[in-house]
Amino acid sequence: MRSVALSATTLLVVAACSASAEEAKPVFKPTEIKAPFLEQFTDDWSERWTPSEATKKTPVGGETFSYVGKWEVEEPEEPLIEGDKGLVAKTKAAHHAISAPFAKTIDFSEKPLVVQYEVKYQKGGNCGGGYLKLLEDGFQTAGKEFSDKTPWTIMFGPDLTCPGTKTHFIFRHKSPVTGEFEEKHLKLPPKPVFDKNTNLFTLVLHPNNTYDVRFNGESANTGNLLEDFEPSVNPPKEIDDPEDKKPEDWVDAKRIADPDATKPEDWDEDAPYEIVDEEAEKPEGWLDDEPEFVPDPDAEKPEEWDDEEDGDWIAPTIRNPKCEDAPGCGEWKRPFKPNPAYKGKWFAPMIDNPAYIGEWAPRKIPNPDYFEDLTPVKSLKPIGGVGIELWTMTEDILFDNLYVGHSVEDAAALAKETWEVKHELEEAAKKAAIPDDDEESTEAVTFQEDPVAFIRTKIFTFIEAAKVDPVFAVTSQPETAVGLTLVLTTFIGMLSVLLGLIGGQQKPITKSAKKTDAPSPDDKAGKAKTDAEPAAAAGGDKTDTPVKRRK
Ligand SMILES: *[C@@H]1O[C@H](CO)[C@@H](O)[C@H](O)[C@H]1NC(C)=O
Repeated sequence: MRSVALSATTLLVVAACSASAEEAKPVFKPTEIKAPFLEQFTDDWSERWTPSEATKKTPVGGETFSYVGKWEVEEPEEPLIEGDKGLVAKTKAAHHAISAPFAKTIDFSEKPLVVQYEVKYQKGGNCGGGYLKLLEDGFQTAGKEFSDKTPWTIMFGPDLTCPGTKTHFIFRHKSPVTGEFEEKHLKLPPKPVFDKNTNLFTLVLHPNNTYDVRFNGESANTGNLLEDFEPSVNPPKEIDDPEDKKPEDWVDAKRIADPDATKPEDWDEDAPYEIVDEEAEKPEGWLDDEPEFVPDPDAEKPEEWDDEEDGDWIAPTIRNPKCEDAPGCGEWKRPFKPNPAYKGKWFAPMIDNPAYIGEWAPRKIPNPDYFEDLTPVKSLKPIGGVGIELWTMTEDILFDNLYVGHSVEDAAALAKETWEVKHELEEAAKKAAIPDDDEESTEAVTFQEDPVAFIRTKIFTFIEAAKVDPVFAVTSQPETAVGLTLVLTTFIGMLSVLLGLIGGQQKPITKSAKKTDAPSPDDKAGKAKTDAEPAAAAGGDKTDTPVKRRK
């Protein structure tokens, strides 16, 4: 806060800015970009999407229940583009499932597969999935039965586990030998840091087995299906022979207690660890006849005490006040001291085991399930639709602008029309919400609204600043300083009176004054304190950046 005049101006500017932002708010227009599947949740969305009516068995107890989580297509809680709706998982602590078939099966064995969509955790990052499942071709007629059992080819997107966040990229690969599918997980899934903003997730998978996982348009992890997943696509050539057992007489103890060593004659295992210190002397002034505890002379039998029912009343004991100044009270006993003769139990020293053979390992045999698939992309099942099947602790997770197709350029162009617009608005809003030492809080009182409080704020802020750095306070608020000079020079004691008076009456002003603390060597500490005390962050959620919250 440079001056009060400035703060009033700032308020006007802020108002003007938000007004113009209101006017300039972009309006949603469906994209012209074409793709095998592109979803912007326009009014006809329900022709494509089917909420699941399936039941799901819980792993514990085998209880069945349905996907009770509600889906809604609606504008975000804080709309950025007028008329732009997204698909929202509405229910806290519930399983949600919904799916949409593709008009045509998508085969990506010869063309890149590009999957892109936006997720916005509107209630912030708590526990909750935000990933997509690209469902195996064939599911299309079973939308209502879509569940965790529906076969999928790729799972992709964020998952907020508690604690932690990662971006899944998992594919299901079929062994040509056993015919079984195995989930292959990214070894090092990206761990993006989240906020309530709209985040963009992109997966590009090329026919040459390379992939690129992008977060907000930037590569977060790139690699190759053959190298960067676990378990690896191709099983090991050889495996441990399950029939081979460690022989009974195998010696794998490297070191043993020396069998030839004997306990020395003079080793007394029974010598105690501590002995009475015979040299100790009773400290002078020790009160042998005073007990350490005495009945509390001030204690009185409670009125409701019933001798018959409660027994004889005994006063509670307190530490004998006479012992306070004495080195001790009561019978004096010699203290213990460490026993110099103490040796403890005798153990034979360790030596290398002469019979040691080595670590035993089973012999290797050829893996009966071995295969080599050098083009796993081409073995993946074509996809027939997209499903969202997740559990969430946090409600109001919003999905939008899904792209599934073959063009990196088109996906990028779609992001430019949609995500980038939102992202810029959100970033601007975030910046505006962060309390800035040089800006007046929007909470501040204006002179027109309440002249008395306005002046009080001004004076109080000045005093607060003066406490931290008097010179800065004067230079930064010269007119307040001039106004206060008389007070400061004539009645020096007045400062504290003013402080008490104003501080006591004006709690909310204390709050905003905190935010406008003058920068000083103490500033960091002051800020940390503000962060730790939610009550002091006057702007509430908006001033509190999510990164700080998750600390
Ligand atoms: C795989 O294909 C992509 C797209 O054609 C190309 O950019 C990339 O360089 C290729 N990578 C390798 C290792 O061949």
